[in-house]
Amino acid sequence: MIIKSVVQPLAEVEADWLVLGLFEGDAEGPAVARETPLGPVVERLLATKDLSGGLGDMTPVLGMAGLKAGAVLVVGLGGRGTFGPGPAFDAGVALARRLSGKPRDTVAIVLPEAAASVASALAAGALVGTRGPRLRKTEASRQPFGTLGVVIPELSDGDRGSIDEALERGLIIGEAVNLARDLANTPPAEKTPIALALRAEAAARAAGVEVTVWDEPRIRQERFGGLLGVAAGSDEPPAFVILEYQGAGDTPPLALVGKGVTFDSGGLSLKPSASMEDMKSDMTGAAVVLAAIQAAARLKLPVNLVGYLAITENMTGGRALKLGDVLTMRNGKTVEVLNTDAEGRLILADALSYAAERKPARILDFATLTGACIVALGTRVAGLFGNDDAFCAEILAACRESGERAWRLPLDDDYKDLLKSTVADLKNVGGKWAGAITAAKFLEQFVGAVPWAHLDIAGPSWADSESSARDAGGTGCFVRTLIALFEALK
Ligand code: BES
Ligand code: MN
Ligand code: ZN
Repeated sequence: MIIKSVVQPLAEVEADWLVLGLFEGDAEGPAVARETPLGPVVERLLATKDLSGGLGDMTPVLGMAGLKAGAVLVVGLGGRGTFGPGPAFDAGVALARRLSGKPRDTVAIVLPEAAASVASALAAGALVGTRGPRLRKTEASRQPFGTLGVVIPELSDGDRGSIDEALERGLIIGEAVNLARDLANTPPAEKTPIALALRAEAAARAAGVEVTVWDEPRIRQERFGGLLGVAAGSDEPPAFVILEYQGAGDTPPLALVGKGVTFDSGGLSLKPSASMEDMKSDMTGAAVVLAAIQAAARLKLPVNLVGYLAITENMTGGRALKLGDVLTMRNGKTVEVLNTDAEGRLILADALSYAAERKPARILDFATLTGACIVALGTRVAGLFGNDDAFCAEILAACRESGERAWRLPLDDDYKDLLKSTVADLKNVGGKWAGAITAAKFLEQFVGAVPWAHLDIAGPSWADSESSARDAGGTGCFVRTLIALFEALK
């Protein structure tokens, strides 16, 4: 899909579809449309309340005379006061989902605000909306537009350059979100740990990221007892992937750690069938880390990043972990396994220890870690935990920038008591309550003194059903937030 800016009056824009944004609560249509034949039509539709401007609301206007565009789609942007990159992304997804069901040579979107961040988010959203979750349908149901034009009615040359740059950035971010979505939507038989590691390697290499893949003997040599323990129940060996991108000289990197469980059956603590349905997406943390690092490299961001992907299946084979088994982790701590379905923390523990040993500036991990986090915050909001207030504040600021949502939960010391084991240093489950917190408290034992934060993305990683601004399936959540965080770090 080609993306380019178009500086032209609306009536002159040649496109199969012209897309015009509308703010909720505005008494009149957009100023750029007023002097065109579209003006009176929008006014009438506003008066009859057939147009609302609500985010994701869409009304096609067909058969307009006096415009060079074939048809017009009016898209709601939500309130003017809350508008920014987040709503712009959602509006981009919504309009592209609506228009990409048939082949389109050109779609032109009128930029609602001449801001680079809005142009970028709109382009990213449009790209995400042209890609459906139906990877294995025999007939494609969405197709990228031939050309996506972003119309700027009037602008100086200098500003046009920055908008063009923003559109290019949006394309890279949209492709990264789609990479994370595609990986989550891929059937589990096609993404065994080795297959996923190889796909990660290829995507990272193509972006100029340095990649190291450890096989099982190497993982054993490195004493990753947690990863090996979980992998023991599977016929497929585990993998550990290290991604390195150096865009800022010799300063210590930000380390990103991702949970990569390619299928979580629960192990011998077997999940009921309905809870297992979406467990191919239990590798979303790893996918998000991969997608964001390769995008950072493509964008040539001036940051140093290192990613660690801990990849395995959680199965019930003859050598599977048994309840009461004790694992010795990378950092020497012993863990009594009392629920094999609390596997994410076991594999992350080793990855976090290893990351911490290498003295990064900070560590941020992403994991579809607990159902309890969905109970606490719902499906749209991630749980944020951390041992460093300033780092957590920066992550929340990046979330505000992207429009993605996280909420900080406590990590007070007394929660650690819930992880006391009679035979080992720790057990891998707490009690009945505060499940998302006890999981985070477990992870905290493996990061030493490094500033660390953890995002439990069990809720936002997956959408059970589609809505106008989002497809069902893998969401590629927090890739956009990570890019915003990288850009704020420099
Ligand atoms: N992968 C699951 C968490 C999950 C649940 C992600 C629902 C997405 C949607 C994780 O490995 C898990 O099974 N956690 C257990 C922990 C429990 C055994 C302490 C859970 O949440 O039930
Ligand atoms: Mn599990
Ligand atoms: Zn899991």
